[in-house]
Amino acid sequence: MISPEIIEEIRQKANIVDVISSYIEVIKKGNSYLACCPFHNDKNPSLHISTSKQIFKCFSCDKGGNVFTFVQDYEKIPFIDAVRKVANLIGYHCDELDKSVRSIDNSTKLILSTLKEASTLYSFILKTNEGIKGVEYLKTRNISDDMIDYFSLGYCPEDGESSIKILRAKNISIESLDKAGIVVREKNHFIDRFKGRIIFPLFNEYDEVIGFSARRINDSDEAKYVNSINTDVFNKSKVLYNFQNALKEAHDAGYVYVTEGFMDVFALYLSGIKSSVALMGTAFTKEHAKLLKKLNVEVRLCLDGDEAGQHGMLRMIDILENENIKYRIVNYKNCLLDPDEILQKYGSEVLKKFSNRLFERDDFVFQYYLKKFDLNTIDGKRNFSNQLVEYASKLKNPIDRELLLKKISEKTGISYDSYANIINQLEGKIKKEEVGKGDKNISISLNTVTSKKNITKLQRCEDKIISLLLNYPNAIYHYRQGNNYFNDEIYNKIADYIIDNYELNNNQFDVSKLITTLSQKDDEISKKVLDKIIELQDIDPRQIYSDDLLDESISAMKEIVEKEELNKKLKNKTPQEQAQIIQTFWSKRR
Ligand code: CTP
Ligand code: MN
Repeated sequence: MISPEIIEEIRQKANIVDVISSYIEVIKKGNSYLACCPFHNDKNPSLHISTSKQIFKCFSCDKGGNVFTFVQDYEKIPFIDAVRKVANLIGYHCDELDKSVRSIDNSTKLILSTLKEASTLYSFILKTNEGIKGVEYLKTRNISDDMIDYFSLGYCPEDGESSIKILRAKNISIESLDKAGIVVREKNHFIDRFKGRIIFPLFNEYDEVIGFSARRINDSDEAKYVNSINTDVFNKSKVLYNFQNALKEAHDAGYVYVTEGFMDVFALYLSGIKSSVALMGTAFTKEHAKLLKKLNVEVRLCLDGDEAGQHGMLRMIDILENENIKYRIVNYKNCLLDPDEILQKYGSEVLKKFSNRLFERDDFVFQYYLKKFDLNTIDGKRNFSNQLVEYASKLKNPIDRELLLKKISEKTGISYDSYANIINQLEGKIKKEEVGKGDKNISISLNTVTSKKNITKLQRCEDKIISLLLNYPNAIYHYRQGNNYFNDEIYNKIADYIIDNYELNNNQFDVSKLITTLSQKDDEISKKVLDKIIELQDIDPRQIYSDDLLDESISAMKEIVEKEELNKKLKNKTPQEQAQIIQTFWSKRR
């Protein structure tokens, strides 16, 4: 566990604007900071960040919190891991933090230890007589002993039973093997999913085995690769092969290559490039981009030279741009091979030179369409123009746009002005669409307002009081003086938390600190308290506070409570009894 003092120190050292900026684009407007909210589909920036309070809040979806809960919710990780991430981001180091382990539940721990045992076993088998076939195959792919160790490669025996027997003998249950995705049921017994294959263990960023990919070693018509099924710890579209090594290599190298497959990572390794990852044949996702962003180096796209690979890179551009990642693209010219094939055909030196020939974004896109269309035909020229002009219309920088349009015009002989005209027309159309969307947004926010009206009068008073306490320290002082309390347990808890925080901070209220405390509790009440605090927290309180404001709300609340209690007492009573009760009620009030 990390001590509360360390967590507090990290919180104080971290600047919420900097941390959020490392995930999403933050815009400065006057003294405030805005961003498009990543927690709902946000078209206009509705997420506000307060530097004085060190919190964020979205005015559209109501999500909010402090620097830790932003990272926690954005990355969908446990609170304590978010603390570690923030520490990393701000370059905060201490022994306690480095030594403490990641918080994972027992069932996850069991899956991870099962996978580790299996991986160790497969690696061991590769080096025994049982593994000879595997070693021979790896030789045909130029994979050295040193690489077998570096990538922790292994082999699973063909019978499909011996590996399971050995793991069972180590007291690993069938249930664990099943949860780890290692076994498949065949009739009435279990066999190894990866039998007769070369094993590529897949790691997470903590260097833990989270699954396997296994390649056949013959030319049969079985699937070339068998992958782990998605388990509690493995999701193929969120994993990058070799990321755990890239994490160690990228900083010194200053770049990371992104390839399509394992064999391409191995080929780059053989040409001296250790900082690389592979997509494992899936489409590039936002999650992949987030992983790459952590490396904080130039991303170099190096998918295959064929149309699928080139088109894949074209599609990656949007995601990389959205994540604000610096990248360039390997210039394949007319080569249709993949890095592994280049290595086999021309050797490691050529591959190394090849992978250093890099395109900027717009040159790549230009080249892509140039290869795709035949400019000797009218049809080809038209398609080429349309694709590129549409692309150019999306470029934010007018210089980039102009440069590209000039380049297209030179190639086709169509005038620059014609292209510029089309862009202007496209822009008009886009603006109109945006106005249309704007109307929809308004109706959505009106709906949320009406749903908030469903709360009772009493809740409205209670909310008002808490919101004054949260946003005006003088209100805390006044509330405490009056020995006030709520009838509702949750509201009382909130008030207690606020007062405690205020007293502990020398009569100042630090909401970000309170969020830290509450985020570490996992009971239902603390969750409700936290939600309420975020709901009622103003990013930029503008009201002028006076004690009267608070007093009014408190008496309104008391009146409602008293009347409710009176009504309860009157239930099932005779008219005479009711008259009596009402009389005592009024006499007490005066
Ligand atoms: N892949 C997969 N399942 C398949 C085929 C491919 O999971 N049936 C994934 C693998 O991760 C593979 C990547 O997609 O590494 C790229 O596929 P491909 O280029 O066909 O494989 P290579 O790694 O190049 O393997 P090889 O050179 O041995 O054909
Ligand atoms: Mn390939």
